[in-house]
Amino acid sequence: MRSNKMRSGLVAALLSCGVAAAPPNCCTKTIHRDVVVVGGGAAGAHAGVWLRDHGKSVLLIEKNDRLGGHTADYTDPVTGKVINVGVQAWMQYKDAFDFPKRMNVSTSGSMQFATLNYHYVDMKTGKPVEGWVSPGPDTLYPALQRYLTALEKYEDMVLPGFFNFPKKGADIPEDLLMPFGEFALKYNMSAAVPQIWDSTAQGLADTMHVPALWVFQASGVPMVRALLGQGAAAVPASGPLFELFEAVAKFLGGDVLYSSTVVSASRSPGKVTLRVRSGSGELTCVQAKRLVVAMEPTPENMAPFALDDAERAVFDKIEYSTVYAGILRHPSLKSGQAYTNRSPLPGSTNYTVFPTAAQLGRMDWVGGTEDLFQFTAVGTEADTEESMKALIARSIDNLIEAGTLARPEGGRGLTFSIFANHGKMHARVSADELRAGFVQQQYALQGRRSTYYTGAAFSAGFSTVLWVYNDVLLPKVIEGI
Ligand SMILES: Cc1cc2nc3c(=O)[nH]c(=O)nc-3n(C[C@H](O)[C@H](O)[C@H](O)COP(=O)(O)OP(=O)(O)OC[C@H]3O[C@@H](n4cnc5c(N)ncnc54)[C@H](O)[C@@H]3O)c2cc1C
Ligand SMILES: *[C@@H]1O[C@H](CO)[C@@H](O)[C@H](O)[C@H]1NC(C)=O
Ligand SMILES: *[C@@H]1O[C@H](CO)[C@@H](O)[C@H](O)[C@H]1NC(C)=O
Ligand SMILES: *[C@@H]1O[C@H](CO)[C@@H](O)[C@H](O)[C@H]1NC(C)=O
Repeated sequence: MRSNKMRSGLVAALLSCGVAAAPPNCCTKTIHRDVVVVGGGAAGAHAGVWLRDHGKSVLLIEKNDRLGGHTADYTDPVTGKVINVGVQAWMQYKDAFDFPKRMNVSTSGSMQFATLNYHYVDMKTGKPVEGWVSPGPDTLYPALQRYLTALEKYEDMVLPGFFNFPKKGADIPEDLLMPFGEFALKYNMSAAVPQIWDSTAQGLADTMHVPALWVFQASGVPMVRALLGQGAAAVPASGPLFELFEAVAKFLGGDVLYSSTVVSASRSPGKVTLRVRSGSGELTCVQAKRLVVAMEPTPENMAPFALDDAERAVFDKIEYSTVYAGILRHPSLKSGQAYTNRSPLPGSTNYTVFPTAAQLGRMDWVGGTEDLFQFTAVGTEADTEESMKALIARSIDNLIEAGTLARPEGGRGLTFSIFANHGKMHARVSADELRAGFVQQQYALQGRRSTYYTGAAFSAGFSTVLWVYNDVLLPKVIEGI
């Protein structure tokens, strides 16, 4: 009798929990806030602080056990040195440094560069690429300056987001739509491409063939100014960029649910209800007036939000690549060396052809450490952590087989000190989708069903740009609440 009652109660709870309407009765508690933010990376963490500073109550929901998103770091157990392995620096952009200042985090440090002996190799064969010579300063800097001059024409159209993007497809400048390789030839800036490919643009997977707009978003004005010494690439005086997110975590205190994801949602004008599952499996309901999505809007991340047709039409069009970074060790890798992936195909030596994903982009010795090498690798949407670890291992084996690296003594092999899977990044669509009005459709989602979007997919992949983007977006989020 008693167990029957219990069972029917459980069945009722399971049934009601199974529907998308998110009834509060399956949650252990309900939290009420003005705004709920999902994702606590550069964009979400900043939004949390901004909303509190503007007198709104806020709750942040973060999948990871800490804030910061791509701001990963690693502490070398030998030297105690903290190494930024994700985001490397904050690129000066408008008044973005106000945010670290607000959190009492300094921006007076700068990136440390060791002098390295670079080897330009084809990671697929392990052989050096014949004739590949790095552009010297006399060709590199003028080419970077030509790139910057071209970019500055479009700066306000694409940064800090697409608020001023042409309304009609026909009005989008051809420079933004043409494949980046054509753009590089048009502006005679090919000598700058190795530098920007190595820094960030390799993340676009087939960098020379994507619409130039997406390279602008990944390696645009703030980064090029920093490369030219016309803008700062700042880090805290202490070094780790994570210091900022520690300060944000302290400031937001209990207003962050860590190790938590949304399982279902209902969204209507003025009312958002989320059912959130924490790491312990506990369900919490959240009721808010507005939702801010501050994670990459991938199909997987958006699935719990019961998208409507207009939303699905936008998110289904977005293509991604996957990015991996971290620290590895291998007995054949010696201090002071760096291995950079280059294509062996014609056009590589005049900087018009680059490797495409999946590929291991680089392995650079980390100055001041015994044997740590920082790597970046880029995969397609189909790649996984396992497939990329295997590709990295194979690339190192190729270097050994080709005699580029010495054969390791003993049986020791590759180890990853930290392997950061940054997942899907570099949201982009084709030139045809851009002409057909993708950006307008995407931005029309702002405010729809009480939902707003921040983060790299709606802005650009720079922390500082995202903070300035939020300063434009968030006043609209709190309008009328
Ligand atoms: C290796 C690497 C180096 C980079 N270097 C720089 C650099 O030097 N300077 C720079 O400005 N930018 C750099 N970037 C770009 C970086 O992407 C942006 O600067 C910025 O961090 C993006 O912020 P975001 O808030 O949009 O995304 P993220 O930082 O990815 O934040 C998203 C957050 O949402 C969380 N999340 C994801 N899914 C869910 C879910 N389902 N539920 C709840 N939470 C979820 C994530 O855990 C994460 O905390 C680099 C990126 C990489 C990968
Ligand atoms: C920053 O420092 C000031 C002055 O010491 C202090 O009043 C303020 O609370 C600090 N802010 C944060 C976010 O720590
Ligand atoms: C292109 O750049 C090269 C140096 O990289 C320079 O010698 C040449 O004059 C430039 N051409 C034009 C048309 O500006
Ligand atoms: C670069 O090299 C390729 C292959 O050799 C050649 O077809 C192309 O014209 C070259 N481009 C430039 C700008 O020199």
